[in-house]
Amino acid sequence: MLVPVLLSGGVGSRLWPVSREAYPKQFLPLASELSMLQETLARTEGLAAAPPLVVCNEAHRFLVAEQLRQLALVPGAIILEREGRNTAPAVALAALHALAADPDATLLVLPADHIIRDQAAFLAAVEVAAPLAGAGQLVTFGVVPTSPETGYGYLRCGEALGEGAARLDRFVEKPDRATAEAYLESGAYLWNAGMFLLRADSYLEELERQVPAMAAACRAAMAGVSGDLDFLRPDPEALAACPGDSIDYAVMEGTDRGAVVPLDCGWSDVGAWSTLWDVSEHDSDGNVVHGDVIVEDSRGSYLRAESRLLAAAGVDNLVVVETADAVLVAGRDQVQDVKHIVERLRAAG
Ligand code: GDD
Ligand code: MG
Repeated sequence: MLVPVLLSGGVGSRLWPVSREAYPKQFLPLASELSMLQETLARTEGLAAAPPLVVCNEAHRFLVAEQLRQLALVPGAIILEREGRNTAPAVALAALHALAADPDATLLVLPADHIIRDQAAFLAAVEVAAPLAGAGQLVTFGVVPTSPETGYGYLRCGEALGEGAARLDRFVEKPDRATAEAYLESGAYLWNAGMFLLRADSYLEELERQVPAMAAACRAAMAGVSGDLDFLRPDPEALAACPGDSIDYAVMEGTDRGAVVPLDCGWSDVGAWSTLWDVSEHDSDGNVVHGDVIVEDSRGSYLRAESRLLAAAGVDNLVVVETADAVLVAGRDQVQDVKHIVERLRAAG
């Protein structure tokens, strides 16, 4: 059975001040009236799949439950992490849960913070990936890169694997700028879209082989799982003892059973405000406005008002995001630094 697994444990700090620890970006309606988590859930409804598993932080359990309820969706389970250990353990917890119900479970791992414009193309790519995953491959989805982005993984395709897929020859997570530029220039690499299709048992075998301590800690956490309603709580102590790492570094970089299915579906990772500027509708001066905003003689700016009137005149390429208790003003090409502002705020308590 195909089981959608929604990874929803991130904090989304680069979308501060709208995205907060208590209410991170995946729960916000940033790109449509639905939250990003709901958009992702809705996307899986075109698949013949089991009810989704959502893996998230304990603190967000009621948010997740409520957002599922709004879509009239009953989850397979909402797996709660007291403290997230990054995506490799999160996928392992879901894999162990799914395997207990079905030894042939295949997971469609989906980050909860992506935009996909062409739903049909996405579903078609999953269809191409299905037989490969069934044969034990860990399938990635590759997007043609448009910039030397250092926040993504890069995939190099090897020999063809049937129709519309290739062996994963090389996976490099978050290369430095010079390397990313060389990859872009070479035309030989795709971006890793961050979604995976893999059999639960294949994933756990690879995790066991590459990071046995992580596999053991996740097994211990699920052996001590407790539950109420749709919520499942892996043993928090066992999870706290688990090494933290992403699926990209922990498993995909070192696997020799990876495959790539190209994906051309209007994909974007809504990582920072500049992405929302990219993907939203612009006025004739290239501004994106959201909420109660007046703009005069300004170009290329993202202006978002959440609680008050926001007025801008004579500004170019700025991001201004107003909320009830904080206002962000940043250069549009400087928005990655918002993460550092949040770190400073956290350090200051
Ligand atoms: N449950 C849970 N627990 N979810 C988590 C955790 C955790 O500890 N950490 C992150 N997540 C969720 C995030 O909420 C997000 O939906 C997803 O997992 C991916 O995590 P990110 O932190 O956003 O990863 P990334 O964007 O840096 O990199 C990944 O995605 C890129 C494409 O967007 C990688 O897979 C890259 O290779 C890829 O290019
Ligand atoms: Mg991301």
